[in-house]
Amino acid sequence: MWKALAASALLGQTVSGQAMLRFGCSQLTVERVDPLVNPGQRPSPHTHQIIGGNSFNLTMEPAEFDPPARSTCTSCTYSEDFSNYWTASLYFHSPENGTFQRVPQFANFGLQQDGGMTVYYMPYSARNGKMTAFKPGFRMIAGDPTTNKPNRASICHRCIGNGEGFAPCDARDTAELPTKYCPGGIRATIIFPSCWNGKDLDSPDHKSHVAYSNSGGLGSPNCPSSHPVAIPQVMYEVMWDTGKYRNNAWYGNGKQPFVYSFGDAKGYGQHGDYLFGWKDDSLQKAMDALPSGRCQNANCNVLKIQSAREAMACKKAQQAVENVGQNGEWLHELPGGASVRY
Ligand SMILES: *[C@@H]1O[C@H](CO)[C@@H](O)[C@H](O)[C@H]1NC(C)=O
Ligand SMILES: *[C@@H]1O[C@H](CO)[C@@H](O)[C@H](O)[C@H]1NC(C)=O
Repeated sequence: MWKALAASALLGQTVSGQAMLRFGCSQLTVERVDPLVNPGQRPSPHTHQIIGGNSFNLTMEPAEFDPPARSTCTSCTYSEDFSNYWTASLYFHSPENGTFQRVPQFANFGLQQDGGMTVYYMPYSARNGKMTAFKPGFRMIAGDPTTNKPNRASICHRCIGNGEGFAPCDARDTAELPTKYCPGGIRATIIFPSCWNGKDLDSPDHKSHVAYSNSGGLGSPNCPSSHPVAIPQVMYEVMWDTGKYRNNAWYGNGKQPFVYSFGDAKGYGQHGDYLFGWKDDSLQKAMDALPSGRCQNANCNVLKIQSAREAMACKKAQQAVENVGQNGEWLHELPGGASVRY
């Protein structure tokens, strides 16, 4: 959708053309587990929606825990991708009676999936078409649940129907959750850094080992000298089905009825977690094939592709067993009890 325009807008920055991976991953599970920020904790503080390999677990130590070896399926289109990807869930907070309902998710344009998200691996920081794929054990976080500052270049929201065909997180998207009714849904976008220090699989804040090539958002081939290695730029899109929450009184003048699972009703704190788990060198092969044009979106012919039905069948039972509104139940509080902050 935005790709054609993004391509022309960014031409000159990217030598090798704009081929990228864009594919769907269905919901694996929805629960309060976070092996990156709260390893071993059951439950972790807030609800996540998780996609990818079914070895997702409370603890997934780098070097020790090998997702391709431990998984028996993945909810992603590419069947060699046992990575895990997760973000906060979104809840409707009734202005009438204060109860919460988890907002359902829907498939992105042109994709067949059951909830989950759309994952991108983009070549914006590649130099001469070359990028270094992540190493086993690699992980990172984009965004910050504790922030009260906007960061529109990397963490943004689109009110679907507000115009399409422009690059993600451009000036027509908002850092905050849209304050008007979005009948076509809200798309949350999370753009990860595209440069790596070349050494560390992780860092204490899960961020300092990677960097944006500029002030955030879509990258350029100019990685900083502290982080000289161009890596695939990962991006998530999450489609929230907000259409049924229709009542003019709930929107406008800065108001809107949605809140992220950690209590953020502004939306600046949306964040994404990434834990690499592609089998062997499959991701490197795909990245190397991007300039050839044989590897594009969900049709990369150097990768193994499974059917949408197989991907949707890959589910994992909750390990932190509780009602987080996974089936649309109304809840008296956000799971974990976060208070709502505007
Ligand atoms: C998940 O962790 C538990 C221990 O907490 C372990 O028994 C189990 O084998 C792990 N599952 C996978 C798929 O690694
Ligand atoms: C609370 O309000 C929402 C609409 O805002 C409604 O759909 C839901 O049924 C209400 N729940 C109760 C218990 O009244």
